[in-house]
Amino acid sequence: MKISILGLGYVGSVSAACLADRGAHVVGVDVDAAKVNWINQGQSPVVEPRLAEIVAKANASGQLCATTDVADAVARTDVSLVCVGTPSKANGDLDLQYVCRVAEQLGTALAAKKRRHTVVVRSTVLPGTTWDVVRPILENRSGLRAGPDFGLCFNPEFLREGSAVADFDSPPFTIVGVQDDADARLLRSLYSWLDAEFIATGIALAETVKYVNNCFHALKVAFANEVGRLCRATGVDSHRLMEIFCKDKKQNLSSYYLKPGYAFGGSCLPKDLRAILYKAKMVDVDLELFRAVLNSNRTQVELGVEMVERLGRRKVGMLGLSFKAGTDDLRESPLVTLAETLCGRGYTVRIYDEHVRLSQLVGSNKAYLEQKLPHISAMLDDSAERVVADSETIVVGNANPAFRDIVARMPADKQVVDLVRITKDLRGLSTNYHGIGW
Ligand SMILES: NC(=O)c1ccc[n+]([C@@H]2O[C@H](COP(=O)([O-])OP(=O)(O)OC[C@H]3O[C@@H](n4cnc5c(N)ncnc54)[C@H](O)[C@@H]3O)[C@@H](O)[C@H]2O)c1
Repeated sequence: MKISILGLGYVGSVSAACLADRGAHVVGVDVDAAKVNWINQGQSPVVEPRLAEIVAKANASGQLCATTDVADAVARTDVSLVCVGTPSKANGDLDLQYVCRVAEQLGTALAAKKRRHTVVVRSTVLPGTTWDVVRPILENRSGLRAGPDFGLCFNPEFLREGSAVADFDSPPFTIVGVQDDADARLLRSLYSWLDAEFIATGIALAETVKYVNNCFHALKVAFANEVGRLCRATGVDSHRLMEIFCKDKKQNLSSYYLKPGYAFGGSCLPKDLRAILYKAKMVDVDLELFRAVLNSNRTQVELGVEMVERLGRRKVGMLGLSFKAGTDDLRESPLVTLAETLCGRGYTVRIYDEHVRLSQLVGSNKAYLEQKLPHISAMLDDSAERVVADSETIVVGNANPAFRDIVARMPADKQVVDLVRITKDLRGLSTNYHGIGW
């Protein structure tokens, strides 16, 4: 494959060298003539372990060269990878000046080209940028259309500086955002040598994945640092603690707890967060992130209330009340808060929960409901069908599989507020269906 790489910074240099090393013919492009000269002399423009030797070898074998001329690079290649910088503006927005400039140059070059060419954005850009910002520039400058006339996709890079070559050769997965199968096939063959899952998806989703990854990494650093602050003040060895913490691959380092849905609740998470925040206050440590977690959770509870209110129907049926499916524990269930808030605002609320039926409740749970939530017990109904029939808005509050069928068969005149993503496949659902985070 013949590839041009626009921008010879960390991402561009590593991509250029590694792809050339794997047999591609690569033409690097940069506005900085010094970087271009370095590549043409077989030297790396950036410092990264192993990169200097790969650049030297690829240049000596004729697989890698560089130029400042975009049109010439495009004419000599089939695919262009855009790796220019996307720095922050003072207000936090992304500065797209380099991306836009390179899109103009690419568009002009495409107009002069007879063969089909594919543009792959690798720079980190906000969701919607490739299609709504880059595409119009390419189309206006070239007079061609993305899709039928030239390929356009997004392919984020996950390398870390300091281990960039190793990361490029061994990514967690390869993800491409594409509009059609032809682009997906082309990129699959570009990365055919990688031993990593290849995921072809929508462009905006691929653009968002890159941000969510980086935000999660930042969150992990901040979390570990706050653990460190607390441990230092309480005389606990934070490194030994986190070593043990990381051994739990079931709940800690796993996909568990990582699905968007409703707020957390139950007898442990809210209580324990509050307690640790209290302890931190006692030892003069500010755990801003931990505090923000409780605030964010409150916002999520309110969002559920708002969703129901926005629909403007007074009769609400709730499917699920306990804090998660398969339990009858109502302590700090956000669904109890939701029911109480709606009831307090004058809504008629009926509730069905398989495990919270008055006829079946025994012992402490029955006493808890009758003493602490007598107003809630008055809303309970033993029949999900009756709750649906009597209500205008149905809130799906826990992931009881039986609710999937109920949602699939929901009469068209009823609104559904789904807090748990009861059905994976959203295609075919009516416009009366509203997911809280999808
Ligand atoms: N650095 C990383 O670890 C990393 C990892 C993954 C993704 N990214 C993303 O990749 C993108 C590039 O990052 P980087 O660190 O390699 O940037 P960088 O600033 O090191 O390099 C960008 C290069 O683009 C060149 N350039 C600017 N305009 C150009 C034009 N019109 N034509 C050709 N070249 C042009 C610049 O001269 C510079 O050499 C950014 O969006 C970044 O967020 C970076």
